[in-house]
Amino acid sequence: MTNTAKGRTDNAKLLAWVDEIAALCRPERIYWCDGSEEENDRLCQEMVAAGTLIALNQEKRPGCFLAHSDPGDVARVEDSTYICSKRAEDAGPTNNWIDPDEMKATLNNLFDGCMEGRTLYVIPFSMGPLGSHISYIGVQISDSPYVVVNMKIMTRMGQKVLDVLGDGDFVPCLHSVGMPLAAGQSDVAWPCNDEKYIVHFPEDRTIWSYGSGYGGNALLGKKCFALRIASAMARDEGWLAEHMLIVGVEPPDGEKTYLAGAFPSACGKTNLSMLIPPTTFEGWKVWTVGDDIAWIKPHDDGRLYAINPEAGYFGVAPGTSDHTNPNAMKTLRRNCLFTNVGLTDDGDVWWEGMDGDPPAHLIDWKGRDWTPDSAEPAAHPNSRFTAPASQCPSIDPAWDDPAGVPISGFLFGGRLSRTYPLVFQSFDWEHGVYLAATMGSEATAAAVGQVAIRRDPMAMLPFCGYNMADYWGHWLEVGRSVPNPPGIFRVNWFRKNGEGAFIWPGFGENMRVLRWIVERLRGGAEAEDCPFGMTPRHGDLSWDGLDFDSDAFNSVMAVDRGEALDEAKDQRNLFDRFGDRLPGEMERQRQALIERLGKASPEWRPTG
Ligand code: GTP
Ligand code: SPV
Ligand code: MN
Repeated sequence: MTNTAKGRTDNAKLLAWVDEIAALCRPERIYWCDGSEEENDRLCQEMVAAGTLIALNQEKRPGCFLAHSDPGDVARVEDSTYICSKRAEDAGPTNNWIDPDEMKATLNNLFDGCMEGRTLYVIPFSMGPLGSHISYIGVQISDSPYVVVNMKIMTRMGQKVLDVLGDGDFVPCLHSVGMPLAAGQSDVAWPCNDEKYIVHFPEDRTIWSYGSGYGGNALLGKKCFALRIASAMARDEGWLAEHMLIVGVEPPDGEKTYLAGAFPSACGKTNLSMLIPPTTFEGWKVWTVGDDIAWIKPHDDGRLYAINPEAGYFGVAPGTSDHTNPNAMKTLRRNCLFTNVGLTDDGDVWWEGMDGDPPAHLIDWKGRDWTPDSAEPAAHPNSRFTAPASQCPSIDPAWDDPAGVPISGFLFGGRLSRTYPLVFQSFDWEHGVYLAATMGSEATAAAVGQVAIRRDPMAMLPFCGYNMADYWGHWLEVGRSVPNPPGIFRVNWFRKNGEGAFIWPGFGENMRVLRWIVERLRGGAEAEDCPFGMTPRHGDLSWDGLDFDSDAFNSVMAVDRGEALDEAKDQRNLFDRFGDRLPGEMERQRQALIERLGKASPEWRPTG
């Protein structure tokens, strides 16, 4: 067995761990990733030769490649995702739990010899700017070169991480596609296994992932480390690890307000984080800090500071266009990986919702001929791009700042076709935590097998590494730990009319809502009370350049008392799952909503 470890690190824990895993998984060779361009080019060429990657037209998309996954390995697998804390109640009712000793026995069996015939890659990575006191280092072991080249974009990866690590501690992240190769057996383009396990041991801070090569199942720095393990670290250390975008909103006076926003998977974080204001918003600009994950820590000055621990975007491709997200389209011009989108005859990518007419012919994500008459979409609904953050035209100058950016407001937004208004503000922190905790959302393609509508507290249902009730308690605690906590807002871009069409135009027009939020936070804008919280009237938003009269506004703002009471009642089903671990504040807030609704008219509408 060859091993390129020599001279890379003296870290005893790391060297021992790699030896231990190599003895278990029995790879043909061990390769330590240095993170260089040369290494990246070589791995991409090897994957082209193996059929895993297709080189795109290098004039149109220099440095870009396309992968088509196995059709059974296209999204996160929540049913096979586990939080294995010592006690079941510490994982809580919203996570799958198995006793850690039992799970380790299962995993040891699965990983026994699982890398035969393959290369074991050692991938050192930093979540957050290298060497920042907010950052943490992980080391992923994987038998997938596709994972290596994705991790190079999504994280700070390579030898420089080992140099900073020294003999310090790291989070061990073990990954295998679960398809050993017998002597002489030829490989497939996308190795994986029907049996999948995505397992977290929050007390040991370790991750074991088996059977999938896709996205959050396999790029372990992202959901597994930066959310599930980090949320447990954050609880212990007094900070927050959240499924949030981070943006800086700059008004004409130049004084930026930073917002962090939680939206469930495939509900618009990437779009909102790269928003371009309508042309009538002269002097306003939105700056991108992050599109998926925020690590947020209280600072000595009494404010909360956020960093984006990632270095790239793993974004939903379908629906991304020059209309919906021109900054993303510019980010995708070079050095990107695409997974499960269509391949055009001239070697470019295509997906549903891209600008212009669909091509007359292309190769779909399953490798079949496709025409506009085909019954199935050319791109899988959860097809994705992997793109370097540094290429985003709206990247904030402070995105890489180890100190982070000061957060003034939090947004929470589900995909809800009824009941919830376009925007409202919480009365205070406690009320805001309740609004975030009870957030619901309609199903998307980001995970397999979701129910139609589900509660997705703080957009963290699949990502909280411990008991969700304790997590709400932690949020309440963080608010008490700072003198003037950020404002909290609920938004909903997804309300539909009787015909099932979105009423709100969304995308760049969301700036009208962001502007009101920023003005509220700066003490400028007016609001009135509705049963849910504090809302703008039609005249409080700027309508320059958009035809959206007060009737239209009413249709995205009105609160139907019957629907709202049903909603308040249904929230009890969520709370009941947590028994006596539920913070008392949550039920108190629910009762207060019911009381306000009791005094409201059957249909509340904005005045004026
Ligand atoms: P993850 O990467 O899965 O965490 O998701 P994300 O929240 O970053 O999702 P993304 O921004 O990629 O959302 C994509 C989906 O949201 C697409 O279906 C978009 O069309 C839709 N979307 C985004 N913004 C808006 C909006 O303002 N209005 C409407 N109607 N749809 C939107
Ligand atoms: C999500 O599902 O929220 C994502 C994509 O951001 S994945 O990395 O696959 O989890
Ligand atoms: Mn996400």
